[in-house]
Amino acid sequence: MHQIIAPIITNNEVRPGIYHMRIESAGMAASARPGQYVMITCDRGLERLLRRPISIHRTWEGGLEFLYAAVGNGTQWLSQRKAGENLDVLGPLGKGFVINSSSKNLLLVAGGIGIAPLVYLAEKAVESGKNVTLLAGARTTNQLCILPMLPERIKYKAATEDGSTGYKGMVTALLPEFKDLADQIFICGPLPMLKAVALNYAEQLRDKSVQVSLEVRMGCGLGFCYACTIKTRQGLKQVCKDGPVFEMSDVSWSDFGMK
Ligand code: FES
Repeated sequence: MHQIIAPIITNNEVRPGIYHMRIESAGMAASARPGQYVMITCDRGLERLLRRPISIHRTWEGGLEFLYAAVGNGTQWLSQRKAGENLDVLGPLGKGFVINSSSKNLLLVAGGIGIAPLVYLAEKAVESGKNVTLLAGARTTNQLCILPMLPERIKYKAATEDGSTGYKGMVTALLPEFKDLADQIFICGPLPMLKAVALNYAEQLRDKSVQVSLEVRMGCGLGFCYACTIKTRQGLKQVCKDGPVFEMSDVSWSDFGMK
């Protein structure tokens, strides 16, 4: 784990409200794994905000890439940063996705900007010879801008709530069609989507390894403040250091968010 001042290389709005950023940090790139995140200090003049967790979208030898939605004060501040400015970055943090060596076929399910860390996982998985199918859901086509840029070996199917691309409806409705081919399933998206899968598909997915990446409010990112505590079968866990990736069946979904 590093705490660094990292120069921004690029920070572009790729679709309305969705940004792609590259920062320079060869050290973080060398140690990062899919599913991990960084904490970025988002500073608005005299008002210093807490660090914001941002998923790692990709790495290359010189640094990290992020794909993020500007939805709150912190990410809106981040979206206004220019190339050449510096960011205070802590990471890589947390425990990421685990691909079993025996798994050949992976199914990835992304909701909205949850696609960001799954692209990183998908690219690493195909590099190591796995077959990857990505189910990507969003409200509209606009939010699926990354799909045409994926390596050819990653098969994907899109779902949009307005029907503008692919299946019309929630991406999770595609799970029954694809789950039987998968040795492992990885899901990242908004909490209601994850809860819906856990509660509605628990029986159908009972024999599968299903890993979910949880997005919860965080403070320190280091296990000190307990802002991110959740209930699991193994007791209370901190999403920032014990996750953000958990086995779906370990999370106490009905109590989720309760300390
Ligand atoms: Fe502080 Fe997890 S964010 S303990």
